Amino acid sequence: MNLTPSQGAQSGASSPPTASTTSFKVTLPSLQEKKRARTPIVALTAYDYASARIVDESDIDLVLVGDSLAMVMLGYDSTLPVTVDEMLLFTRAARRGVRRALLVADMPYGSYHASVGDGVTNALRFLKEAGAEAVKIEGGRNRVELVHALVDAEVPVVGHIGLTPQSVHRMGGYRVQGKSVSAAEHLLEDAQALEAAGASMLVLEGIPREVAAHITAELSIPTIGIGAGPECDGQILVLHDLLNLTFAPAAKFVRRYGDVAAQMHAAIGQYRQDVATRTFPNDAESYHLPQGERDRMEQNARDLAPKHKKA
Ligand code: KIV
Repeated sequence: MNLTPSQGAQSGASSPPTASTTSFKVTLPSLQEKKRARTPIVALTAYDYASARIVDESDIDLVLVGDSLAMVMLGYDSTLPVTVDEMLLFTRAARRGVRRALLVADMPYGSYHASVGDGVTNALRFLKEAGAEAVKIEGGRNRVELVHALVDAEVPVVGHIGLTPQSVHRMGGYRVQGKSVSAAEHLLEDAQALEAAGASMLVLEGIPREVAAHITAELSIPTIGIGAGPECDGQILVLHDLLNLTFAPAAKFVRRYGDVAAQMHAAIGQYRQDVATRTFPNDAESYHLPQGERDRMEQNARDLAPKHKKA
């Protein structure tokens, strides 16, 4: 048995992505070490082979197949409708593109809410059928029993507290959480309960910077922030937000690093024009008969052409 898995040792990947600049495989202990060393953890979502591969080749530490895909890939107006089978399909696609980063899959709404047994059964599918290395669940103290059961079943767990999109109806919209001292204390208690239950990491979403900084300082597991200020142990963004592929104004915490929508509009518009004006494809973009076959074809055409009768 090889005790030191090398890059590319994950199952389910078909063609090997090109090597990233740093070759070691990111693991939960290596992310824990980053917290100790105060080295920021860099995380992003990705949902398909091509984008996961580019994210992985960019040396991102953690790739999350987030249930945000319900909105940015499937066009729903919340994360609630996406199913376990749909999440598995996207996780398998991302798995084939990710070699170095830690691959985490989101448990969708309904897959762990009815019972702990359901939660464990569904979580195991993400590891067995899709190659995820951890699952993410939303909620605080109400998930402690589930976290214990998942850890018992050797399923690493990433918790997610604060603005939890699966609670959109209870919250009355996507609202910043933990905005009073008592709400902040509540969040800290949630975070500590999840850590004590065995969670490996916590996503802190949509909470005041000061609250996230306090939780981060109180925990020994890493915190990954999104709309939670710079003191978290790492940051995550939705790839489509970062690239401007969301068709909606960006939230306050989003920084747009590119405008892929504009690039796609320009490229597709140029293609449309080139086809319409017959400038695509050109001769160099066309296949050709070998010269001998071309001569024969021209001869055949001449032979078949109606002969002009001499007057
Ligand atoms: O679904 C998702 O993409 C997430 C991140 C925003 C953390 O949960």
